[in-house]
This record gives sequence, structure tokens and C-alpha cells, in this order.
Amino acid sequence: MKVLGFMASPRKGGNSDMLLDRFLEGARSAGAATEKINIYDCDIQYCQGCHLKCWVNNDTCPRWRDDMDMLHDRMLASDLIVFSSPVYMGAPPAKLMAFFERSIDQKTVNLETLKVENNKLSGKKAAVLQVNFFNDPAYQKLPMLVYERILSEVFKMNIVGSLGVADVREPGDIAKKKESLQEAYNLGAKLCAL
Ligand SMILES: Cc1cc2nc3c(=O)[nH]c(=O)nc-3n(C[C@H](O)[C@H](O)[C@H](O)COP(=O)(O)O)c2cc1C
Repeated sequence: MKVLGFMASPRKGGNSDMLLDRFLEGARSAGAATEKINIYDCDIQYCQGCHLKCWVNNDTCPRWRDDMDMLHDRMLASDLIVFSSPVYMGAPPAKLMAFFERSIDQKTVNLETLKVENNKLSGKKAAVLQVNFFNDPAYQKLPMLVYERILSEVFKMNIVGSLGVADVREPGDIAKKKESLQEAYNLGAKLCAL
């Protein structure tokens, strides 16, 4: 089983990063091959809204030759894709949203019938890890809804697990949350043992 982890915080060694590392460790303990990509290291240009081209053709983005084609190839080659992100302004971080917008070319839509003719990510398994500062789980609600909307509804992916850790602010705060880190490990192991 191939597991691809997207680290979607600009802070390497921060809370999202550590949580993802534990998840991937758990995945490896169950025999999975893992890969981690730092989204903030990637060249991801903004979608320019010329979607008539990338939607109607079974095609990649006609405008940008940045890291998105490589990222899509990695996604398509993976069995499970895990996203790990901080809550920013009660929402997912901006670069992750730019990445999702640019992933719209993975679908092909017939604009006359409005039928989806191809959806390359359909059925792919996904997991979501989130961290946030305020000790209130409500802060993770909206970003989780955004993940669900995009992964499950737009791309028809299958969210098979999620974990949120609140009350972490500075990089490394999550090291004190041993139970949460263990939960991430267990989740990675469980999802790869299925
Ligand atoms: C621009 C920005 C916006 C943030 N907005 C929120 C927020 O709305 N709610 C919250 O609980 N924490 C918020 N935080 C705090 C981060 O979610 C928190 O520090 C998290 O642990 C950072 O994760 P990281 O170490 O993976 O970068 C925000 C942080 C930044 C930099």
C-alpha cells in the first residue's frame, strides 16, 4: 500500500508536521510505503479561472507548468492520501486551497449535460489531520466541512479517517499531547492494515 502525506503548514517541524510524521510511522508499521510532500515547498500557481479548458478536455492545466502535474501523478499513484494542516482564520490554509483549486483539472465535465465524464481521483482513500490553537473543537468544524466538500463531494474521494488536535500553538507544542500523537500512529496503522 502506498501512502502519500501532504504537509500543509509553512512551519516545518511544527504541529501538523509532527502529527503527520506519527501517522506515517503508524502506516509504515503496517507495511505501507510512505512519502511526504511539503505543500509549501511546491511551486503552485493560482488557478486563473479558465476552467472551460481544463474541465472540458481530459487535460492538465493549459496555463501553468509548475509542480501540480507532478503532485497529481503522485496522488494517482497512491492508495491513501493524508492531508495534515493547521486551522488558519477558521479555515484551511491558503496554499492548500490553491492546491485544491488547481486540482479541478482532474475532473472532466460535459458542460451541456453537466455530467462528470471523468474523475481521476474518484474512490481514492483520504484522511485528514488538523491542528489549531484555541482549545475549542469548533475551530476545526468549518475546515473539516471544507475538506468534506472538496474531497468527498467534488472529487468523490473516500474520507476513511480524521483526527483533530486542539490547544497547540507553538511549533512542537504537540509533543506534549502524547495521546494525540499515539492516536495518529494508531490511525495510520489501522488504515493501512485494512
Ligand atoms: C494566520 C494564522 C491564522 C490562524 N487562525 C487560527 C484560528 O482561526 N483558530 C485557531 O484555533 N488557531 C489559529 N491559528 C493557530 C494555528 O492553527 C496553530 O498555531 C497551529 O498549531 C499551527 O500549526 P503548525 O505548527 O502545523 O503550523 C492561526 C495561525 C496563523 C498563523
